[in-house]
Amino acid sequence: MKIAIILGTRPEIIKMSPIIRECEKQGIEYYILHTGQHYSYEMDKIFFEQLKLPQAKYNLDIGSGLHGKQTAKMLTGIEEILIKDRPDIVLVQGDTNTVLAGALAASKLNIKIGHVEAGLRSFDRTMPEETNRIIADHTSDYLFAPTETSRKYLLNEGIPHNKIFVTGNTVVDAAYQNLEISKNGADILEELGLTEKEYFAATAHRAENVDSKERLGGILNGFSQIYKEFGLPIIFPAHPRTVKMIGEFGFKVPEGTRLIEPLGYLEFLQLENGAKLILTDSGGVQEESCILKVPCVTLRNNTERPETVDVGANLIAGCGENITECARKMMELNSEWENPYGNGNTSKIIVKQLI
Ligand code: UD1
Ligand code: UDP
Repeated sequence: MKIAIILGTRPEIIKMSPIIRECEKQGIEYYILHTGQHYSYEMDKIFFEQLKLPQAKYNLDIGSGLHGKQTAKMLTGIEEILIKDRPDIVLVQGDTNTVLAGALAASKLNIKIGHVEAGLRSFDRTMPEETNRIIADHTSDYLFAPTETSRKYLLNEGIPHNKIFVTGNTVVDAAYQNLEISKNGADILEELGLTEKEYFAATAHRAENVDSKERLGGILNGFSQIYKEFGLPIIFPAHPRTVKMIGEFGFKVPEGTRLIEPLGYLEFLQLENGAKLILTDSGGVQEESCILKVPCVTLRNNTERPETVDVGANLIAGCGENITECARKMMELNSEWENPYGNGNTSKIIVKQLI
């Protein structure tokens, strides 16, 4: 049994890391194929270093670009590698262009595909991620759905029940495995001069948000309102895409918001864990705030993580006036919800299913 683990972006490296560790532990033959969709040190290599992951056997160095061109280059590169180093199964995770290319390439070569984090749906086809997820799900042989909700969505789309496995999400394995490690390392709160529960943490990078002047402006305005109302700083480790767009639109970062470089995973876990509230448009960060029992306000009009809202950990605010109101509401609640994404053994369940 040989597994090809295809990944290319920050969240895929983090959420695949428990599966990679499990393969190592069980002596399973596998290799990592990195598309190079993310390539800056703080979006890529830092995670291999911090999570002590073996280097990718192949790195296609594709980089950024228009979706069609980027995906086409990945498809070509992945196909060549899968032909010369044919695995029994390809694993992809999530909903990026890397996932789309990986699933398509494997499907055309009749190689079995396992989709980790299958069955998420925002029901918003304007998001590139929604197309990627749907295609990956419909070409996969093993659909590792995090929750019963995602299983239900897949069944509704006609996917046979025997291909679907409810496993939880490897984001929990990663958070549990690394939070303790992170506490023994450098203290990011001390480094940034922060006191626990006396700051907000924020991220934003979704194309539909940061590429829109109105929506990115709405987010920054929301941060400004929050600072005025609560008087606590908003720590904003910004994705390179966001930094670029703030510059292009000529926005000023508002008083109270501290725009910093993206953090390593160990530091970011500490930042999340110590925050009073998290403001984000990230998928993984919505999940992690729920797992770490920190209230979350989502800067989007929808979410493919409805479980976080159902358990009371998250409110969907959009990118305008609602942000402050949602923050106020979330801070009035207690954080005693159940984490819906499993107890940290998802990677074991997935690997067991494959071998
Ligand atoms: C991609 C995924 C998104 C995921 C996100 C995780 C798609 C369609 N989008 O979005 O689903 O949530 O990754 O972070 O696959 N850039 C750098 N350095 C990097 C990577 C990107 O500077 O290492 C900058 C470039 O200006 C680039 C821009 O960010 O043009 C966007 O990168 P891209 O990979 O196209 O999309 P993401 O926004 O990162
Ligand atoms: N993350 C990180 N450093 C940061 C911001 C996020 O390590 O400065 C981690 C975070 O803990 C989560 C993942 O990156 O595991 C989320 O990635 P991102 O928000 O880029 O993508 P999404 O989950 O929305 O696809």
